[in-house]
Amino acid sequence: MTDIVAIYGSPRRKGNTAQLLARAVQGARDNGSSVREYALHDLELAPCKEIYACKKDGECAIKDDFQQVRDALLEACGVMLASPIFFYSVTGQTKVFMDRFQSLWVKKYLIDQTPFGQWTPKRKGYFISVGATRGKKLFDGTLLTLKYFFDTIDTGLHNSLLCRGLDEPRDVEKHPDLLQQAYEDGADLAGQVADTGDQRSET
Ligand SMILES: Cc1cc2nc3c(=O)[nH]c(=O)nc-3n(C[C@H](O)[C@H](O)[C@H](O)COP(=O)(O)O)c2cc1C
Repeated sequence: MTDIVAIYGSPRRKGNTAQLLARAVQGARDNGSSVREYALHDLELAPCKEIYACKKDGECAIKDDFQQVRDALLEACGVMLASPIFFYSVTGQTKVFMDRFQSLWVKKYLIDQTPFGQWTPKRKGYFISVGATRGKKLFDGTLLTLKYFFDTIDTGLHNSLLCRGLDEPRDVEKHPDLLQQAYEDGADLAGQVADTGDQRSET
């Protein structure tokens, strides 16, 4: 079983969020976690068609790479997600990915009838985001989207790293403090995940 699933949401393979997430992954691995990485840009992921075939059994009718990432994610105790800000939200790749989890939302709230807001967190989440500008509300919309995505996958937002003023693909390299922070956050998540894993094996 993989401890942590790390999702790269930017179309830039070596851009700012990708570099930060790679450091977080390294921090987690150096502290004992197994991590499986997925770059959304490289996957075949179609957008939700809103046909609600999932109302039957919670399964999405579109068969593509979604199922393998979903299964890995649901087995893991930790989730790392990185997306830059695109028009005050996540990237298109990340949003398409999130929308496909509507099938799980349907399973949780419509089929299993979990009362809203009364779910037990099963995994710890870490979110990285980067934007070019420095506005106070830069991450507000994205954090709301993230909150409801993490809710759907029974994940509590344990920590986040939100960076303003980074635009060119290698801008983050001028900020070793941010890269170090990402590494330490990854190490911290590894510790959290080890605790969660211990609790799971005790029940
Ligand atoms: C389509 C698009 C929309 C963007 N929208 C915003 C925005 O609303 N606010 C902002 O501060 N930066 C915006 N940016 C800039 C990116 O957030 C910035 O370049 C970031 O560093 C990219 O991260 P990456 O290197 O991980 O891809 C946008 C960039 C693109 C391509």
